[in-house]
Amino acid sequence: MSLTNFPGSANFSPLDPSITKVTIPALADMKRQGKLISALTAYDYATARLLDEAGIDLVLVGDSLAMVVMGQDNTLAVTVDEMLHHTRAVRRAIRRALVVADMPFGSYHGTVSDGVANAVRFVKEAGAEAVKVEGPRVALVHALTDAEIPVIGHLGLTPQSVHRMGGYRVQAKTADAVQQIKTNAKALEEAGAGVLVLEGIPREVAAEITAELTIPTIGIGAGPECDGQILVFHDMVNLSFAPKAKFARRYADAAELFRTAIEQYREDVEHRAFPADEESYHLSSAVKKEMQAERSSVQTIKHLRKA
Ligand code: KIV
Repeated sequence: MSLTNFPGSANFSPLDPSITKVTIPALADMKRQGKLISALTAYDYATARLLDEAGIDLVLVGDSLAMVVMGQDNTLAVTVDEMLHHTRAVRRAIRRALVVADMPFGSYHGTVSDGVANAVRFVKEAGAEAVKVEGPRVALVHALTDAEIPVIGHLGLTPQSVHRMGGYRVQAKTADAVQQIKTNAKALEEAGAGVLVLEGIPREVAAEITAELTIPTIGIGAGPECDGQILVFHDMVNLSFAPKAKFARRYADAAELFRTAIEQYREDVEHRAFPADEESYHLSSAVKKEMQAERSSVQTIKHLRKA
């Protein structure tokens, strides 16, 4: 499509021109206008479609998929290829929300140019519109911004640092640590980050960072003053098979819903109650008649041969 076909300066969804696409600048506008940003994770087509149709602004293909989809103990093992596979599925479902791919552990921890090359794969091969990196990786954020790849930073409890942190612990609890995270947040903004995720930090600290930055902050376990909130989808619908974290409000019990449905199905199969006649395909009466006639003539021939 020619650029001149774009309707005015509005962004629109390439899949549906009637929808205004959420972009990084649109999220910055939301912060300026005091509109709160809703974000959730998704890893597959069906969930991503539900999120998008419900008007969620930002969909993150989080490396949390290592835990909630692949059953790993932490997020470290998921690979770039696995993340690409899930990002493609999510991308196909989304019309409006911003699609963000999480860069997995190891994909940006070496050289900056390796990090840029991996980020390019998310944009080129999976259709991601931004990537997220954990920690104060200022040089990388600079390089990604130079490479026209929108970046989302992530500070505080960064799950890829689980071994360094000695577990999943609330961060920024001392005056020094508070100063450090504020400095890092500012540095990421100056390096070009378009959004900053704040995870597992005291509410007061998140509030100060949110007030000091012009880019939006999105909190998870960081209190209500952030410019938006994100949760892991499986946590909010009780599908993560893990004790509920303090911050993870459960909005539905999908485990209970699915378990009941699965048990009912098993019982129905065991008692031949599924499928019912109306759930079965049938031969047309013409074909039935034809088959009946064939059967009768075979019987007649057998009879005659016996006689
Ligand atoms: O991987 C993830 O799901 C995340 C968010 C929860 C912020 O990084």
